[in-house]
Amino acid sequence: LSEDLRAALQSVCATAPDATSYEVDWTRRTTGSALAVCLPASTAEVSAVLQVAARHGVGVTVAGGRTGLVAGAVPDATVVLSTERLTGVRVTNGKALAGAGTTLAEVQRAAAEQGWAYGVDMASRDSATIGGTVATNAGGLHVVGHGTTRAQVLGVEAVLADGSVVSRLHGLAKDATGYDLVQLLVGSEGTLAVVTQVLVRLVAPPRSRQTVLVPLASVEDAVRLVDRARREARGLRAAELLLAAGVELVRDVDGLPPLPPSPVQLLLEAEEGLEDVVPDDALVASDAVDAARLWAYRERMTEAIGRLGVPHKLDVSLPQDRLGEFVDALPSVTAGCTTHVFGHLGDGNLHVNVLGPAPDDDRVDDAVLRLAAAMGGSVGAEHGIGRAKRRWLHLSRTPAELAAMRAVKQALDPHGLLGPGVLLPDVVTGGGPGH
Ligand code: MLT
Ligand code: ZN
Repeated sequence: LSEDLRAALQSVCATAPDATSYEVDWTRRTTGSALAVCLPASTAEVSAVLQVAARHGVGVTVAGGRTGLVAGAVPDATVVLSTERLTGVRVTNGKALAGAGTTLAEVQRAAAEQGWAYGVDMASRDSATIGGTVATNAGGLHVVGHGTTRAQVLGVEAVLADGSVVSRLHGLAKDATGYDLVQLLVGSEGTLAVVTQVLVRLVAPPRSRQTVLVPLASVEDAVRLVDRARREARGLRAAELLLAAGVELVRDVDGLPPLPPSPVQLLLEAEEGLEDVVPDDALVASDAVDAARLWAYRERMTEAIGRLGVPHKLDVSLPQDRLGEFVDALPSVTAGCTTHVFGHLGDGNLHVNVLGPAPDDDRVDDAVLRLAAAMGGSVGAEHGIGRAKRRWLHLSRTPAELAAMRAVKQALDPHGLLGPGVLLPDVVTGGGPGH
């Protein structure tokens, strides 16, 4: 069967000679196995790959830039469909139309060349693809200003499990003609369709930029300051949290200069007005180079943590008024581990990184995710559910919601060919939010 399958796939598109790099996630925590790696160069080739997979009854795992942190692109004895050759971007009338495999940085560059900006940014911009960010409803560094990827998406072209193509790329401002298939695919993590093209709205570039790093005594103080900056500064677009241990870590690993010691650092970026909001001891960037220096403490965090070992990456969101309490409670559920917390404070989104437990020991994952859910939070804020968090989806979605999600999946992909093992748990384990 495998030889037949390989030959059939090779007859419809190029395949990669070596699957190894596609079989492990970015954190190295999850590995899998690929039956083949397909590199379609057009929507027609994507459709042909899905038809071959359907004929052979094998699953298809979609891979973009493979910077995801919940193993959603790691195959599980499936065919990998990589979007890396579906590239190209065109900007017209404040909109960008891009192939799914176009990197975020290329979309940003194309927008800037025409005097626009793209509202989503993240440290993995040079590898993360626009299709992957749509599939996961990625957040990133500017959600406080522009919303998540969902808020930018105007249209998609996608191939369904049976090979049929749905295309909503007209970009009309008004279109009240029934179910919103485009937004249904945003955040569906490759389980409902393969996104092949994306149409996104662009935003006006900031007229000016202020970047400050504010030392604070507590997470609660940082939450209060963000609230004030939202009201009093203009064009707030980033509000990022660092804790003392994380600052020390990036300093050690990357040789960055020391900062005045403080339990909490809050990085704020806005167009103007921050000088009236932040305390006198804030570090204020004098120019773009200086701003990049301040951002380095935040942007290098992920790589610095990755060098300590294989982290358990737990991306959660909390109500604003429970963020401090959650951070204070973490040591009680991560005892004996090394824990680094940072994140997008303006979105109530914390990245809890735990080092120590073996990759397949998920007791600490369970404890942290239950803690977040018990405080009214979400077990998946911006990284998605992927393969890593299926077990805990029921902590954030009710049985009725899970049943509705299954019904959608059954309708669009009745044979379960797309993203097997991703997002939806095999069996509903019961309990509602907070259980
Ligand atoms: C970030 O905010 O830097 C990303 O979500 C990556 C991470 O959580 O490590
Ligand atoms: Zn993040």
